[in-house]
This record gives sequence, structure tokens and C-alpha cells, in this order.
Amino acid sequence: MSKLKTTWLILRKGVEKYLVKNFNIYVPSSAGDSKILGFHTKISIITIFPLLSRLLKILNIKNEIINANYFCKQRKKLKQSKVLKKYFNKYGSDKSSIHNYHLIYGSLFKKNNKVKKILEIGLGTDDEKIISNMGRYGKPGASVRAFRDFFKKAQIYGADIDKKILFKEDRINTFYVDQSNINSLETLFRKTGKNFDLIIDDGLHAPYANINVIITSLNCINKNGWIIIEDIPIKAKPIWEVINFLISFKYNCKLIKTKSTYVFLINKK
Ligand SMILES: C[S@@+](CC[C@H](N)C(=O)[O-])C[C@H]1O[C@@H](n2cnc3c(N)ncnc32)[C@H](O)[C@@H]1O
Repeated sequence: MSKLKTTWLILRKGVEKYLVKNFNIYVPSSAGDSKILGFHTKISIITIFPLLSRLLKILNIKNEIINANYFCKQRKKLKQSKVLKKYFNKYGSDKSSIHNYHLIYGSLFKKNNKVKKILEIGLGTDDEKIISNMGRYGKPGASVRAFRDFFKKAQIYGADIDKKILFKEDRINTFYVDQSNINSLETLFRKTGKNFDLIIDDGLHAPYANINVIITSLNCINKNGWIIIEDIPIKAKPIWEVINFLISFKYNCKLIKTKSTYVFLINKK
């Protein structure tokens, strides 16, 4: 629906009509006035995930949340993580300056030299017109360069929606992707091949786009490999409790509490 059509519909018929027309899986299966149907559609959209999260609790299904510091200490990787922090800071990624993600990435693998292939979605554009940009002083490619220096034997693949910042240099190759479109992710994996040890989603940061990445990546990671979803807002916890529950049937999952976000980890055993 175009922006103009949406505005027109809302102005003429009210937001409830718009909700009923566009959010059909949430619309009550009832006859009635569109104002009332729209009202309940809105309540469904807002409450579905919090209610599912409550249902998990009632069913005694625990969602263990680990602190990033604990994750790192438990794996005895504090020293290595500090090395990675230096690389993130050197190249200008915010993964250690604003976040404490070095504690996670520094602790994932027993032997970093065995890591052969990494993909990160989200290179860090400095174009302020693009959603999820790093500001005009951002350093595109910062984190992939840090990973290249830290994982000394790995080939690093990067991908981004901003074609202007794609580049190629020693052990780094980058590609276009739009993670809001599952076909675009499939095209990316056709180009990069599979067998990744680590796939990182630091791109759009919208839940549906995160799920697109998970769906397309699950068959692209090696045994003992990881998929990492960054920058999950604390308020989105109910969504990730449900995702955690679903994926845990087949994979080891962890929800990690970092300085100001959650990070979701999927580990293929
Ligand atoms: C937070 S930045 C990545 C920062 C970088 N990983 C670092 O640590 O230095 C997010 C990136 O996601 C990209 N992005 C936004 N929407 C996207 C989409 N739909 N598909 C792929 N990338 C997207 C932006 O262009 C931006 O470069």
C-alpha cells in the first residue's frame, strides 16, 4: 500500500480500518464494526509476544539469560577478548566502545586459528540517509577488518545494503544484500557458498529481518559454528524468548545480556 493511500485511508476511515486491512493475521474472526475489529487487532499486535512469553513461563519453560562477562569468564577467554577489543577500537567499530561484544566474539572458539570462514551482514555505512548507519564519521568495514586481524586464518565475507561501501582487500570480500528480502539473502549465500564458522547479523536490526537471516543461515553453518544476532533491544525480549524456545529444539541457543542490549547466539552442535 503506497504512503499516500495509507494516509488517505487513515484520514477517511480511521486507523482501525487500516489495521484491519493490513494486519490480517491479527484481525478477530468476528463480524462487527471495523472500529471494534481494529481495536482488537491493535491489542493482538501489541500483546501476542508478551502473552506467548508468559505462556512459556506458565509451562515452566525456562529462558536462561547469561551475562556477557559471565559467558567470557566461564570460557576463560578474557585475555583473547581484550585483544579483539583492541582491534575493534583500532578500526572504529562500536562493538567494544559502546557495546561489550568483544566478550562474546573473543570467547566463541577454542582455537581461533581453526576458524576458516566468517560472514558479517552490516558493514557500517556512513551514509546518514540509510537506516542503521554509523553516523557521518562512521568507518565502513571496521568490524570485518577487526575480525580479519583476530581470526588470522579466516576468509571474511561482508554484506550490506549500501553498495557505495562495498570493498575488497586482503582476506576480505564484500557483497550487496538486503536482509529484508529473503531472496536477496539466498542470492548472497549462492555467491559466498556455505560452510561458515560464524555468521553475524549486525544490519537492519528489525526482528523479521533477523529471522530472515536465521532461516537462510541455518544450513550455511558448520558443525560447532555460530549465528549471532546483535543489538536486540531489551524491550524485544518476549520475541526472542519465543525464538529461543523454537530453535532450541535443534540447536544450542543462548540469550546474552550485554551492556545495553541482548545478543542471541545459535550454536550448531
Ligand atoms: C550498525 S551498522 C554495522 C556496523 C559494523 N558491523 C561495525 O561494527 O562496524 C549497520 C549496517 O547495516 C546496513 N543495513 C541497513 N539495512 C540493511 C538491510 N536491509 N540489509 C543489509 N544491510 C543493511 C547499514 O547500511 C549499515 O551499514
